[in-house]
Order: sequence, then structure tokens, then C-alpha cells
Amino acid sequence: MQNFINKLSTALEQKYILTQDEDKAPYLTDWRKRFTGKALAVLLPGNTADVANIVKLCAASQVSIVPQGGHTGFCGGATPDNSGKQVILNLKRMNQIREIDSANQTITLEAGCILQAVQEKAAVQGFLFPLSLGAEGSCMIGGNLATNAGGTNVLRYGNARDLCLGLEVVTAKGEIWNGVKGLRKDNTGYDLRDLFVGSEGTLGIITAAVMKLYPLPISQWTTLVACETIASSIALLNLFQKRATSLLTGFEMMTQESLELNEKHFPQMANPLQGKPPFTVLIELSDHESEDHVRQLLETILEEAFESGLISDAVIASNLSQANAFWHMREHITLAQAEEGANLKHDITIPLSSLDCFIKETDALMRTKFPGVRIINFGHLGDGNLHYNIAPPLGTDPKTFNEINEKPIHELVYAQVERCNGSISAEHGVGQLKLDGLRAHKGEVAHELMKTLKRALDPQNILNPHKVVSI
Ligand code: FAD
Ligand code: MLT
Ligand code: ZN
Repeated sequence: MQNFINKLSTALEQKYILTQDEDKAPYLTDWRKRFTGKALAVLLPGNTADVANIVKLCAASQVSIVPQGGHTGFCGGATPDNSGKQVILNLKRMNQIREIDSANQTITLEAGCILQAVQEKAAVQGFLFPLSLGAEGSCMIGGNLATNAGGTNVLRYGNARDLCLGLEVVTAKGEIWNGVKGLRKDNTGYDLRDLFVGSEGTLGIITAAVMKLYPLPISQWTTLVACETIASSIALLNLFQKRATSLLTGFEMMTQESLELNEKHFPQMANPLQGKPPFTVLIELSDHESEDHVRQLLETILEEAFESGLISDAVIASNLSQANAFWHMREHITLAQAEEGANLKHDITIPLSSLDCFIKETDALMRTKFPGVRIINFGHLGDGNLHYNIAPPLGTDPKTFNEINEKPIHELVYAQVERCNGSISAEHGVGQLKLDGLRAHKGEVAHELMKTLKRALDPQNILNPHKVVSI
């Protein structure tokens, strides 16, 4: 292996080849601290040619590669295995914005750009880059595309896939595919871009992308409302879809239990709605006309919602800092969960028409079979995407609880998801966490097709092996 490390120095300056334990350590454990691996080296390429050269060397020596961005993923996709024979390829040095094309409304950028930096850069030029998620201060565009990230704006602008027009990818052979085109129409056979988006580093290494931009809205209004049931939250969503149509840019749901957990760890994030409603919904409208136009529209819809009994309370953010506080409250639930200790996450989508039934039935089964568990539910209701999370009963050691109950709890939730024709991963991906779950969920034919693709694009199985599919 020393021989291989020596060869790497022909492709990369020595200072970008990390082999000492203390240098490698920050790259070896995932954000949720569920997976820790070992690595032969951590490699920090500075450009696409570096990536291509590294892949060629790895292919020649049969060394497998774990691509890594901000390492904020929830499924262990960017964490190496325990063999100590894999290399981590972290793209953080590749953080250049190549071009903002105002006429085409696109941004061309390298995979290591931090999401928040991209949003800020676009805003300076008067554009909205709509991908937005709690990890935006550290996750990277390459990771966002590789996981097809979702977040809080999907309802209006779509997920990372919908925002992507073109890609540059280094293949498993070390070739560079230049698909860096900002085209909204291109029917030239198979869509290679769509193959790499969401492939979690198993089919190619994304080095750059062309993404869509949108005009910045003139005005945004944010409100928190109280709903008694999930059914009324969905009816409220439908009301907003009908009345506000494309002005509706956010519709997030938080249960009482999830906000109580928030308040326990972040008392400054208390819910401003009175009386701890069972469901708190955060709604955002964005407008290109005027402040007055959108404010009046919001008030009219809320009035209708009050009159028809869909909501029992509402607070409209009176300024930007209050609106930000509402969003922080929503985004801190993940952090509160992390503070509370190990927990079990399920990132599922259910057709909205079945969501009420799913929650009622699954909650009842969960509470009967696992007495005392805390159900920490929240999510992107506008997309039918529920984060159905289970925390151990108070006073129980989370590690011991999860060791015994993780498998049966996942089985219970996923069986319910199947019954409702949903998906076991809405936005977080598969990684190593859901490798077995995916096999069962996809069905024989789809799973075999996925393996066929993997074998065709990576016959030596050197790109992130045993993530998503095992061949
Ligand atoms: P990493 O974690 O580094 O990698 C993720 C996967 O992509 C791995 O399989 C890795 O091998 C692969 N990969 C990374 N870069 C490349 C590349 N250049 N080429 C090929 N493969 C690559 N996710 C959502 O979808 N919606 C949310 O709302 C959301 N909220 C979050 C909130 C918090 C607080 C945290 C910690 C995470 C959240 N996530 C969310 C999960 C995570 O942030 C996203 O999945 C994000 O897109 C991962 O980006 P990353 O750069 O950290 O990727
Ligand atoms: C979110 O919606 O906040 C993220 O997906 C993170 C999570 O599920 O905890
Ligand atoms: Zn989410």
C-alpha cells in the first residue's frame, strides 16, 4: 500500500494526501455519529484533472474511493468501511463558481462549493438559488446532487435534481464526462445527468454542475399556525395551493412533541403559538409583485382557514428577524434530536391522501409495541415528506434501546410505508444505512436493474462499494 501512496504523489501534492491518523480523523465519522470507518488516506484534489488522475491510479491498483463533500449526510454514504483500504476523496478544495449567466439564469460551479455560499453569491447578483436545508452552512453542491437533496423549498422549486441542468463527472475509469450545459431541453437519448444525480457516489464523481437560478422575490411573508389534526394541516395545504398557487414556497409541519424537545434543548426557540397545539405549521409565501399584495393574500387565506375551522391560532412574522426565528425553530429540531442522544430516523414519503391514516395507524402500533417511545415527527408536509423519528423512552439508555429495537422499529415503519405505497427514503438517500431496506423496498426487477447499471458503469466496483447497492 505504501507503493500506492507513493504513486498518488504523482497526481497530487503531498500536503493534499493525508495519511496521519490525526489528519484523517475529522473525515471518518458521519454527522450523526452512527458510522466510523478507517481510511488508507484522505485525498484533497484541487481540480477535475486531479480527480481524474486519482481515479485512474485507484482503478489500476483496485483501491476503492469514498467521495465526500460536507459529510453531513444521514445515511453513512460518505463514511468509509472498516478495512482501512479505501481512500476518501473530499472535494472541499474545488469550491470555485465558474460562471453566473444572467441571461440564461444559471450558475456553473464546482462540486466543493458550500451551499450557503452559493445562495449568497447568487443573491448578490439578484438571483435566488432555491435549494435550502438545515446543513447549508457545511454541505456542498456535489453532496447535494449526489444525494438529490430536498429541503424546505421543494414544494415550489423542486429538489436538487430539478434544479440541475448539467454536470461534469469523472467516471470509474478516470475519464471526464463534460456535460456542463445550461440547457432546459435536451432530448439526445439517455439522460446521463439524471443517472448521476442521486447515485450517492456509486456511479461517478461529480466535479461541477450547472444549476438553475430564479429571480429573487420582492417580498416574503412567514406565518406559524396551529392545527388540531394532520387532516386539517393537509386541508390547509390544499387551501393554500388553491389560493396562493405558485406563491406558496414553504409548508412545514412540526408536532407538539418535536417542538417540546426543541424547547428542552434550546429554550430560546419556544413556540410563539399559545397552548402547545398538536401540529404547528410554518407557511411561507414569496411574491414578485409587492409587500401589500402578498400580505393581503396571506391574511385573506388565514381568515378563510379560521372560518372553516382548519386553524385555531396564527402568528404572522412582523419582520425578517421574526421570520428567521420561525425558520430556526423548525431547523433546530434536528439539532435538538442530536442533543437528546441517539435516535432512529425514518425519512419517508406517503401520498398526502394516505398520510393521516399512516400516522394514526403507525403511532398506535408503535405505542403498543414499544411502550414509552417518543415519536418526534416533523417534515416537509407540502411534499408529503415526513421525518418519522423515534426517541427511546425517557430514562432509557439510547444505545441499549436502539441495539434491541432498531430492527423491529424500522420493520414496523417500513411495512406501514409499503402498505401506503410510499417510499423509505424521500430525501436523505440510502448510503450504508438503508442498503438492506432498499433491496426489500425496490422489488426484484428494479433492484436488478440498479445492479446492472452499477456493473456497467463501475465494473471494478471501486466507487463507494456497498453503498446503495451491493454487486
Ligand atoms: P456528504 O455527506 O459528504 O455525502 C453524501 C453522499 O454523496 C455520499 O454517498 C457521498 O459519497 C456522495 N458524494 C458527496 N460528494 C460527491 C461528489 N462530488 N460526487 C459524487 N458523490 C458525492 N437533506 C435533505 O435532503 N433535506 C434536508 O432538509 C436536510 N436537512 C439536514 C439538516 C441537517 C442539520 C443535517 C446535518 C443534514 C441534513 N440533510 C438534509 C442531509 C444532508 O445535509 C444532505 O444529504 C446533503 O445533501 C449532503 O451533502 P454533503 O456535501 O454533506 O454530502
Ligand atoms: C429536516 O427536514 O430538517 C432534515 O431532513 C433533517 C432531519 O430529518 O432531521
Ligand atoms: Zn428534511
